[in-house]
Amino acid sequence: MAAERNTDIVVVGGGAAGFMSALAAAESGAKVIIADKAKRPLMKLRISGKGRCNLTNNCTDEEFFDNIFRGAKFLRSAESRFGPAEIMSFFEGLGVPLKTERGRRVFPVSDKASDVAEALIRESERFGIMILGTEVRKVLTDGKEVTGVETSAGRIRCRAVVLATGGRSYPGTGSTGDGYRMARELGHTVTDTFPALVSLRCREDWCSEAEGLSLRNVVLTCSEGKKTLFSEMGEMLFTKDGISGPLALTLSSVIAGRDLSKLRTAVDLKPSLDRDMLDKRVLRDMNSMSNKEFKNSLGDLLPKSLIPVIVRLSGIMPEKKVNSITSEERSRLVDLLKKLPLTICGDGGWNEAIVTAGGIDTKEIDPRTMESKLVKGLYLAGEILDADGATGGYNLTIAFSTGHTAGTAAAKRIMEGDKPAPAADRAGTKDTMNAIAIDGPAGAGKSSIAKRLARELGYIYVDTGALYRAIGLSAIRSGIDVHDRAAVIGLLAGIDVDLAYVDGEQKVLLCGEDVSGEIRTEPVSMAASAVSALPEVREFLLDLQRELARKNNVVMDGRDIGTVVLPDAGCKIFLTASPEERAMRRYKELRDKGMDAVYEAVLEDLKKRDYDDSHREIAPLRLADDGIEVDTTEMDLEESVNAVLKIAKERLGI
Ligand code: DC
Repeated sequence: MAAERNTDIVVVGGGAAGFMSALAAAESGAKVIIADKAKRPLMKLRISGKGRCNLTNNCTDEEFFDNIFRGAKFLRSAESRFGPAEIMSFFEGLGVPLKTERGRRVFPVSDKASDVAEALIRESERFGIMILGTEVRKVLTDGKEVTGVETSAGRIRCRAVVLATGGRSYPGTGSTGDGYRMARELGHTVTDTFPALVSLRCREDWCSEAEGLSLRNVVLTCSEGKKTLFSEMGEMLFTKDGISGPLALTLSSVIAGRDLSKLRTAVDLKPSLDRDMLDKRVLRDMNSMSNKEFKNSLGDLLPKSLIPVIVRLSGIMPEKKVNSITSEERSRLVDLLKKLPLTICGDGGWNEAIVTAGGIDTKEIDPRTMESKLVKGLYLAGEILDADGATGGYNLTIAFSTGHTAGTAAAKRIMEGDKPAPAADRAGTKDTMNAIAIDGPAGAGKSSIAKRLARELGYIYVDTGALYRAIGLSAIRSGIDVHDRAAVIGLLAGIDVDLAYVDGEQKVLLCGEDVSGEIRTEPVSMAASAVSALPEVREFLLDLQRELARKNNVVMDGRDIGTVVLPDAGCKIFLTASPEERAMRRYKELRDKGMDAVYEAVLEDLKKRDYDDSHREIAPLRLADDGIEVDTTEMDLEESVNAVLKIAKERLGI
């Protein structure tokens, strides 16, 4: 039995949409795990907007939808709930001051995308969202509804999954398109995907001569047959094999998936002058420099690197004197300036694409909730959807807006309890009435008494401290600092802790290795105490403990058995003794084992552990409301066992 986790919602993908959905769900009260195979979450967000993160666009609804290429209708509902205004106040609320720049683009005042990423991570920590560096391989269902996910480190049971794995763009940041496969396995249609907001390659060799040249206020036009697909004024850039810059990126999204051989593309270098006016202007220029050679006459009209290109394309002899240029030749020149042809033959590919065009067919998704119409409890958000927009913060707006909608709806599904919780979640609340929970500080005699009790009653004894010790040992072996939360969380993703019973004896298995002996040292005790204060560690071990109690009659000892693990246990004992007495017992135990112990040091360690265990924020050591305290300071083992046995029999009616 591997440690199987349990939660309300698993968000697959730790990007912008994933984090927003996790936060929205957690804020609504759901227990959330984000699983992402990438070592570091929010990688793409961190490099977005050239590292400045253009997180939304401060625009009206109408302007927003004017800038959406695919999925505008589908996005209406989500955008109206959580659109640019809400996104801005959300981040301001997280302590990230924002500013609006040209084109209504919104950035953090600090110009640091990492501030946006860190704010999201901080907020997730505040809500206790667990971030697992684990690959999700499959979404599990019972045919109709989500029941969990299969990860590289075991299963996680849950009642809702948000698939927010991103698209195919920037594979270097972890976007590999796994989500499409998982959605397809669940019956979803994935439309063809294409790189979008990407540079374009052109057949014209001369592009390389103009490489690096940026043109402002030009008009780029693209048509297919008689239909104009795109015609916008703005900025574009020549690259060694084509064009880039805002106009080219936008054009790439417009033509994504089209047959490039049918497109006609051209740049108007002088859009402020119509053909006639430009002709007059060229004529005037020529008259004023009639003795110059043609190649030297274009300095006022064109940027330097474009002059040889235009001269060549015009077919006019470069050395020809301007005053001998024919009107037909001039007309050819004017045509070129108004309509410099480009033949698009490809794009910069996934490594360069800012976003993905195409994805999960939005017809199969409820636009009000982002829930799949095919599988209940499955939600889809962000770039995985067949929805995309222009540069300027529109795509992050789509991610935040659909993420927020999905997270809120998923939490609502959980909170409204439209389905009883999966079996493991009910463990500890229904099926564990026979269990005996023994909590108390170290050295109170829990394990000796619990073992005897188990033998007398035919129960199995579960020493939960051993589980925390196994994680403590694993941390020591890996050389990580047990107080470094992120490191411990990272450790959890790669380990497996389990219990086995051999001749009635409990064995602790760390990744299959029996570590029952090795966990009984003082350094491991201290490490166990430290890691046990982390919610992620407690969560990691919770299902295993509950599962054992559900399947067996157990005497389970620990610190939070009666309060957290088995709140419905029929008998809850809180065993205690004075610190001095407990230290003396531990000291004698160590001496008996031939270890070199000093009483004062044992007492000091024990007091520190007492303090830590009862003052930690999560599941602190305390007497359960319906627990019974048994003080064994003045009792020997036999007396203690009898006292506890009497209570257990009374409580359980056995
Ligand atoms: O019972 P023990 O000394 O073997 O436990 C080792 C540590 O694990 C102890 O410092 C507290 C922690 N622990 C816990 O937090 N919750 C439990 N149920 C059991 C142990």
